[in-house]
Amino acid sequence: MKIVWMTDPHILAGHGTLVGHDPRQRLRAAFDYVSRHHSDADLCVLTGDITDEGDVESYILARDIISSCPVTTFTIPGNHDNRSVMRSQLSFPDNIDPEFIQYSIIKGGQRLIFLDTLQDGKSEGVLCEHRLEWLDSQLSIHKDIPTLVFCHHPPGKLYLPMMDQEQTDFGEKLLHRLCSAANVRHLFFGHVHRPVSGNFRGLSFTALQSTAIQVPLPYPEWNWESFAPAEEAPAVGIIHTSQDSVVVHFHAFCQATSYVTVA
Ligand SMILES: [Fe+2]
Ligand SMILES: [Fe+2]
Repeated sequence: MKIVWMTDPHILAGHGTLVGHDPRQRLRAAFDYVSRHHSDADLCVLTGDITDEGDVESYILARDIISSCPVTTFTIPGNHDNRSVMRSQLSFPDNIDPEFIQYSIIKGGQRLIFLDTLQDGKSEGVLCEHRLEWLDSQLSIHKDIPTLVFCHHPPGKLYLPMMDQEQTDFGEKLLHRLCSAANVRHLFFGHVHRPVSGNFRGLSFTALQSTAIQVPLPYPEWNWESFAPAEEAPAVGIIHTSQDSVVVHFHAFCQATSYVTVA
């Protein structure tokens, strides 16, 4: 199975930019690249922060850009999204949870579980009792099918002080479940706007560059007052999976200086 992966486009309606970076032009460039080279993919995934402010106009714009994708695109919310507005403007599978934007699909003999870790009004991720029960019910079936999990928030420390969330039980609860399920092969998340890989308790994970702006490593140290985007190009992930493998490639679809109007 071949999956195109993008994250954190932070679409802004009007002509809004993110510290001078144009998130609409960058997402368009990402999908242009996908249309040119990956129309053979099985599906596309966007792991949250679809919009920057969660307003209707931004989702309409995002939907318009996503509609250029040659393959079916699945989205989940991030902390910048508005769940009800997102739900009203984007399309989701019929088996979507009635309250949250979480669902699963089976394709090519593999299962993809999409989780909603949005906590209204906060930047930190959460999985409430309802969402944990939903995840438990998912993991209790199809135990023999290789399973990939996608969410927005990392469940563990990434040594990125400005991105690591306060210690909560979110990561503990998620990892406990995923690591207990023998068929969960990999976890994919966004939010940190950086390429990061490793494993938590033996469960391998990958985080990906934003299609919009990149967050610098903490060397030298920085905080949100001194924040300036890293001069690194945005990228898309190309994921190849089989019954017994997961391989992730990263491709910079434009330059670090592309679609930047302010230094
Ligand atoms: Fe983000
Ligand atoms: Fe985020």
